[in-house]
Amino acid sequence: MSSIIVPPIKSQGIKTKLIPWINDLVLSSGITLDSQWIEPFFGTGVVGFNSPIRGNHIVGDTNPHIINFYRAVQNNEVTTFTMRAYLEQESRLLANSENDGYAHFRKVRDRFNKQYSPYDFIFLSRAGFNGMMRFNRNGQWNVPFCKKPNRFSPAYITKICNQIDNVARVVRGKQWHFSNTSFVETIQQAQPNDIIYCDPPYWGRYVDYYNGWTEQNEHQLYEALLNTKAKFILSTWHHNDYRKNEMINRYWGHFNITTRDHFYHNGGKIENRHSVIEALVFNFDPSEKHSVLQEKQLNIFD
Ligand SMILES: C[S@@+](CC[C@H](N)C(=O)[O-])C[C@H]1O[C@@H](n2cnc3c(N)ncnc32)[C@H](O)[C@@H]1O
Repeated sequence: MSSIIVPPIKSQGIKTKLIPWINDLVLSSGITLDSQWIEPFFGTGVVGFNSPIRGNHIVGDTNPHIINFYRAVQNNEVTTFTMRAYLEQESRLLANSENDGYAHFRKVRDRFNKQYSPYDFIFLSRAGFNGMMRFNRNGQWNVPFCKKPNRFSPAYITKICNQIDNVARVVRGKQWHFSNTSFVETIQQAQPNDIIYCDPPYWGRYVDYYNGWTEQNEHQLYEALLNTKAKFILSTWHHNDYRKNEMINRYWGHFNITTRDHFYHNGGKIENRHSVIEALVFNFDPSEKHSVLQEKQLNIFD
């Protein structure tokens, strides 16, 4: 049984359930565990925080709020104590605010869109609809409030603080470098014995301000990965019930590919589960002596 560190930031498309599959491939790549981990599309960070690699971690994302938040955790600016005090106060304000909390949610959202505090970032990430992270074309937080009685209950606050604590244990005082840069710059830092894990916005799928992704971006990523001397693993989608990802034939079919079925959830209802064939594209010959972890063995450490 292996435990998964679940990060405090939520996002649709988070790769939590695919971690055993990804880690299995990482372990089969032949790199040593003290190699560098390079992750240019960090997102919630769930893959990097759970990677078996123990060397330097060089991670980037063009979304500055993600990078600011994790830097603040790393340098002790955001701690479980400061976050608990903040959430307890906001929880009281939310409970006493008009329109079932909506008035206070709007206040926090407007404040975040001016000041970009890492605390308000977590508040919005956890009070919005379906744990979505979405920014409008002006880069402003754009997810509706998800009304729920006692939205930030003591148990929920503890859960968020524990998640921060778990991440802090991984990054504090360790060789983790967070940068608000585009993927080309992050990939350029890779050395021959490093492993790069890429999870770009999926071409032809959902787009918001920080997740615009064009064919030109896909081409640039292909060039960067074709030319790297490091090992790489790229997550992408292969096909769904309706169509194929054209980028597989155009670019990724030049490398090795492994696929598996995956369900994305948009809300709790069964009819909102979308089955997608996920792909991992990679540039090495996997060794056979890696452990095979199954999804059912997962203990999500939430
Ligand atoms: C699919 S998400 C990564 C999800 C992550 N693996 C997880 O499980 O949470 C893609 C991320 O890439 C970032 N991104 C989009 N365009 C980028 C670019 N040009 N360079 C670097 N990061 C980018 C987005 O902000 C987003 O956080």
